[in-house]
Amino acid sequence: MISVTPIETEKPSELARDISERLNAAIREHLLSAFAPNNIKTLRSFPALEAADLLGVSGQFMRKVHSEGTIPEPKEIRNGRRYYSAQEIWDARQVLEQSSRTKGRYLPGRREGEKLQIWQLMNFKGGSSKSTSTIHLAHYFALHGYRVLAIDLDPQGSLTSMCGINPEIEFDGLTIYDAIRYDTPAPMADVIMPTYFPGISLAPSRLLLSEFETESAVHSNPDQPFFLRIGEALAQVEDQYDIVLMDSPPQLGFLTIAGMAAATSLIVPLTPSMLDVSSTAQFLELAGAYMGVIEEAGAQLQYDHFKFLITRDEPTDVPSQQLTSFMRALFQDRVMTATALKSTAISDATMLKQSIYEVVRSEMTRSTYDRAKESMDAVGREVEAMVHDAWGRN
Ligand SMILES: Nc1ncnc2c1ncn2[C@@H]1O[C@H](COP(=O)(O)OP(=O)(O)O)[C@@H](O)[C@H]1O
Ligand SMILES: [Mg+2]
Repeated sequence: MISVTPIETEKPSELARDISERLNAAIREHLLSAFAPNNIKTLRSFPALEAADLLGVSGQFMRKVHSEGTIPEPKEIRNGRRYYSAQEIWDARQVLEQSSRTKGRYLPGRREGEKLQIWQLMNFKGGSSKSTSTIHLAHYFALHGYRVLAIDLDPQGSLTSMCGINPEIEFDGLTIYDAIRYDTPAPMADVIMPTYFPGISLAPSRLLLSEFETESAVHSNPDQPFFLRIGEALAQVEDQYDIVLMDSPPQLGFLTIAGMAAATSLIVPLTPSMLDVSSTAQFLELAGAYMGVIEEAGAQLQYDHFKFLITRDEPTDVPSQQLTSFMRALFQDRVMTATALKSTAISDATMLKQSIYEVVRSEMTRSTYDRAKESMDAVGREVEAMVHDAWGRN
């Protein structure tokens, strides 16, 4: 039961703490049990056609490799239909890649000489879909055979919870803060954890990460500049990943700027509303100023891609379409062609800390699901093409 005892104190510090404690207890007791009964995230299985599609082969080809015994049958077969776990799809990639004549067909990740892709999603407007876009890209890349490292740079930990870890309630392990703090930093490998989603590792976050803001103001110095901290941590593990996706906090502090200094490409998610567009203009003005400051201090900023992503796109909403056209006219191909559609399929999924890729199609209105998924796939494909371009493949 939710306790309804009135809050006695008028002292703001105690009041805030009291509210926080009650809220956390209530979340633990009510929301978590309703949304995730055993509180452990698992990933759905993928029907045969979807699995074949992810592997880039036909259903017939899959039946052939099963009957030849090249690929073991998936564990789950219901009514004569095959369902694959994401791990089984990963395993199939390894086997198929070995016998493939086209190298990289099934494991398209980076090859020798291709540099680690470090993509940051940033905008100081809260609710511009930074976290939603980051998790969808992470899932897209992992399902397509890339080794993904997700980094949560937001002390609020939305990305961390979407990766199946509840940052404030049950998690007290190391976070990205431990890898970038000034006093005896931990090895990055100790911070990174595997997730329930094959192909995705996570450098998690929780509230403590905000210490980096305070510490940087005091400890950053020419020998240990704050803007090199993330890049140096990443350098320790770079061989193990193809792409790093960094979610950012809704402000332009030391964390966001340190991310910018490590990134090889930037995406600024933007909701097409007047307020968001003007706040983004201010954000970029400030970001530009800070980029100048850290460049003077020796940072070398260079981006393969620096793009706007229109999020929560509403094709039938005239004012938002006008703003989108305005942005495209002004910035042309700096605005990504694909947009993330505004969809109840996405907001419903994120309520359950899921991406559209985790939702079972038959549990939603199909047309709604299909539109949302197609739009997220298009965003993923476009970023994937930019990644290949950065690798010099196109
Ligand atoms: N394409 C979308 N369609 C519908 N709702 C969305 C979409 N993208 C994001 N949202 C909703 O908007 C809210 C804010 O998104 P979020 O990704 O957390 O923003 P940010 O990380 O920039 O603060 C979330 O609750 C999410 O459910
Ligand atoms: Mg967020």
